[in-house]
Amino acid sequence: MRNFIIDTDTASDDAVALVMALRQPDIDVKAITVVAGNVPLDMGLQNALYTVELCGADTPVYAGCAKPLLRELETAQDVHGRDGLGDIGLHLRGRAPADGHAADALRDVIRAHAGDITLVTLGPLTNVALALLREPELARRVSHCWIMGGIGSGHGNVTPTAEFNIWVDPEAAKIVYESGMKMTMVGWDISWKHATFDAEQAAEIRQIGTPLAEFVIDIQATLTEFSMTENALPGFDLPDPITMAAAIDPSIAEYKDYRVDVTTGEGLARGITVVDVLGVSKRAPQMRVATSADRSAFVEMLKASVA
Ligand code: BDR
Ligand code: CA
Repeated sequence: MRNFIIDTDTASDDAVALVMALRQPDIDVKAITVVAGNVPLDMGLQNALYTVELCGADTPVYAGCAKPLLRELETAQDVHGRDGLGDIGLHLRGRAPADGHAADALRDVIRAHAGDITLVTLGPLTNVALALLREPELARRVSHCWIMGGIGSGHGNVTPTAEFNIWVDPEAAKIVYESGMKMTMVGWDISWKHATFDAEQAAEIRQIGTPLAEFVIDIQATLTEFSMTENALPGFDLPDPITMAAAIDPSIAEYKDYRVDVTTGEGLARGITVVDVLGVSKRAPQMRVATSADRSAFVEMLKASVA
């Protein structure tokens, strides 16, 4: 068994990533920590708790930061729905998180499994940055951190050059990127290139016919609309699930080592991941960046997780 801890701003693609991890027979998800991002914190918590319940798991879910370190929260409810899960009428109320703050849960789980814990981040990096600020040594206790965030190459989804998770809390991202943790960044470019689903491809998964198969497709209702009209995609895309797939089986993607910096300015200078492809900064690479992914291996893993 491999130990995972997942930090998430649980909305429609995060929920699919949670299903994939929770249903993986050789992965023990020790905790899920929730951060504000796609939706306000309370909504993200309910979404994570609902998903855990649907998977028949008993993974503890912790509440974390309700806003970025230094900025006001900007949600993506236009992308994922007001409730974050496509506004399809799911009962997303009344479930209770575990006691304690997400930053404490991150510290405790990482300490308890030092050297044998994979951290997967699916939202803004506020919780993780807070944990690292309080205890910088946590960075070397994490075996590997998989980050859905930023852009390896190409265009952004919030500004022309910035991806949502990094843009929402760039100061937190900078802290994490400079923490010395072993890291892989799976940028949004990997998702729109290798993890889109048009109507036919979505139907193929839904036709598996289990409650989980229906859930992972039905909750993409708002995202499908947004992706097609605003992101010029053939249907919805799944950035968090393809990141989770790579964390589960790294051979699903290809990688290169790069120096990556995060900009913390305003406007167009906010939350860009600057990848030093040619090494012109003469600074040593500090992370791996996913450069491509195997779509069919990803889809097979997704199908197996809902079957
Ligand atoms: C990321 O932002 C959110 O909308 C998704 O959940 C994903 O984590 C993609 O930019
Ligand atoms: Ca997310």
